[in-house]
Formats: sequence, structure tokens, C-alpha cells
Amino acid sequence: MERLSFYLFIIQNVIYINKEMIILGIETSCDETGIALYDGDANKIISEKLYSQAAKHAEFGGVVPELASRDHVKKLLPLISETLREASLDARNIDGIAYTAGPGLRGPLLTGASLANSLAFGWGLPCVGVHHMEAHLLINLLENPAPSFPFLTLLISGGHCLIIEAETLGKYKVLGQSRDDAVGEAFDKTAKLLKLGYPGGPAIEKIALRGDPKAFDLPRPMTKEKHLDFSFSGLKTAVFYLIKKQKNISETFISDLAASFQEAVAETLLIKSKRALEQSKKDQLVIGGGVASNQYIRTRLIEGLEGVEIFFPPIERCTDNGAMVAVAGYYRINQSHSEDIIIRPKWDLSEL
Ligand code: KG4
Ligand code: ZN
Repeated sequence: MERLSFYLFIIQNVIYINKEMIILGIETSCDETGIALYDGDANKIISEKLYSQAAKHAEFGGVVPELASRDHVKKLLPLISETLREASLDARNIDGIAYTAGPGLRGPLLTGASLANSLAFGWGLPCVGVHHMEAHLLINLLENPAPSFPFLTLLISGGHCLIIEAETLGKYKVLGQSRDDAVGEAFDKTAKLLKLGYPGGPAIEKIALRGDPKAFDLPRPMTKEKHLDFSFSGLKTAVFYLIKKQKNISETFISDLAASFQEAVAETLLIKSKRALEQSKKDQLVIGGGVASNQYIRTRLIEGLEGVEIFFPPIERCTDNGAMVAVAGYYRINQSHSEDIIIRPKWDLSEL
């Protein structure tokens, strides 16, 4: 009998160790519907689907929250079914559901949160709402080699520009942030001034390839000051006045201005990151968020930060996606799952 219990104990533990922990991630904080299945123990995305509404919002020059929510409602279930089908899995194989609880647009967040909680209730699974910016950071843990805590983080997205000291999982100290426009927002607004369409970041990057980054002497905002905060609205205003006084808006003028704007952003990020690395005595910089997909900015940071180990997600995982939510959910689900539908449109990372 004793021997039987001993064998049962061994079998149970071997099964436990080998048990996969599969998380379904759901991202709906803005205009991307992102779904992914993440095998946490293998640290691998099994399958993922992404639907971007960008073309729908382009005619309005920015995201219309009401339209975004309605589109998420239409796309969520078909995308989840496709993601499961592609992985040859079904609800019984999932161990938990993660959704973006904030920060983000209220309606779109609520759409994802409601569906995630309904599925979790129906399937008898734990459900967790994750922080969108923590997810942009934790997606880097998929990489090989992956960063190891503690490290410095630069998060550059459409809604945020943050320099963070990440001590350990969930312990984040905000060292600097934008006092006005986020860096992606500055790209979008500048692209609008240059009539390049929405989303502005990729459009500026594309046309800047043909431009001269030294053509216009744009400001490097707040780089003379010791603190680590940013301000990007003045940069956009400087572009506005250059356009206003220009008589001939030629293609060369636009590409030179786009390239000079991109260089001003890149140099500002570089100066602040260098200062933050020195002040915090860190030698790893982990970067995330939509603007991190900009190849020019990536190269400027790599070249300018010699001796620093820099981590970027692959380009396609810099902008919003379901994989980042599934990864964050894996690390969060045991600590903080809840049966309430929680959204936090405004949510400071240091409050985690
Ligand atoms: O992380 P993200 O997908 O959404 C938010 O969390 O906000 O970032 C979207 C932002 C947009 O402002 C977009 O213009 C910018 O990232 N972005 C870029 C590039 N691709 C996206 N900015 C500069 N260069 C790019 N290639
Ligand atoms: Zn984002």
C-alpha cells in the first residue's frame, strides 16, 4: 500500500511537471484585435492572429473609439476560433485567459474584458486582466537570449513614452515619462501635418528613407535638463511652423522634414536612455511599444549605446498583439486572477 502511494506520488508529480500551461491572450485596447495561444512552460507562442482596423480609422485621421469597439465585437470570436483551429486545440486545452485591462480606450477595453470573462466563466477557467505596457515589456521574455531582471526599460507607444527601472516582475519604478504627447502620438500628429495619413509612424519611416535627417534643425526637447521626462509636443509645433512658412511643399521638402523629425525623436530617446542607464547603473535596455518597430530608431539606439545589451521584440510584435497579452497573463494569472470584469483606461505602471 505504501509502495502504491509512493508510485502515485511520483506519477502525479511527473504529470504536474510536464503539464503545459496554455494561456489565451486577448488584446483590444485600441484598434488591433490580437489573439494568441502561449505555452508558458515551453516559452513559445503556439498560434496567433491579428486584425488591424487601421484602414477603417484612416479616413477619420485617428482611432474612433465607438467604431473600434464595434469592430472588436465582430472580430473577436472568429479570430479566437481560427487561432484554436490553427493550433489544433480546443477550450479543454486552455489553462487560463488573459485580456488587456488597461490602459487604453474604455469601449474597446470593455469589449475584450467582457468576452474574456464570459469565456472564462463558460469554460471554468481563471481569467486575468493585464497591464498593456507591462505586456509590451514582457514580450521581450520570448526572445533568446532574454533579458534578466533587473534592467532598464524604454516603452515607446502611441499612448506612452516611459523610462522604467524594472527591479523584478511587477516591481516597476517610473524614472521618466512624457509630459505631453506620447512619442507615437507625435509621429501620428506630425504625419497628419505632412498629409501622410494614419497611422503616422510607418508612413514617416517610409518617406524618411528618401530624406536627409540633417536638413532641418529641429529641437531635441528637454535633453539639456537632467531629469528623464520627455516632451514631444514642441517638436510637432516646430514642424507645423516650418510647413506654414514653406511656399513650395515639394516631395523633397516632405521627406527631408520627415527624416529630420525622425532623427530628432531618435536622438532624444538616445540621450535620455543613455542618461537613465548611467543614473540607474544598468547595462541592459529592454525596449517595447509600437515605435520600437521603427528601424531607424532601433539602429540609432544600437549604435549610440555601445556596451549596453539591448533587447527589442521582433518588428511585428512591437505594435499591439495578442502574444504580449498571453505572455503577461502567464506571469500574472496565479497572482491576480479575478471573477470581476476589470478595466482601467488610465493605469500607472508603478501602481502594479
Ligand atoms: O504600441 P502601439 O501599437 O499602440 C499603443 O499602445 O499605443 O503603438 C502604436 C503607435 C502609433 O502611434 C504608431 O504611429 C506608432 O506606434 N508606430 C510607429 C511605427 N509603427 C508604429 N512609429 C514610428 N515608426 C514606426 N515604424
Ligand atoms: Zn500598445
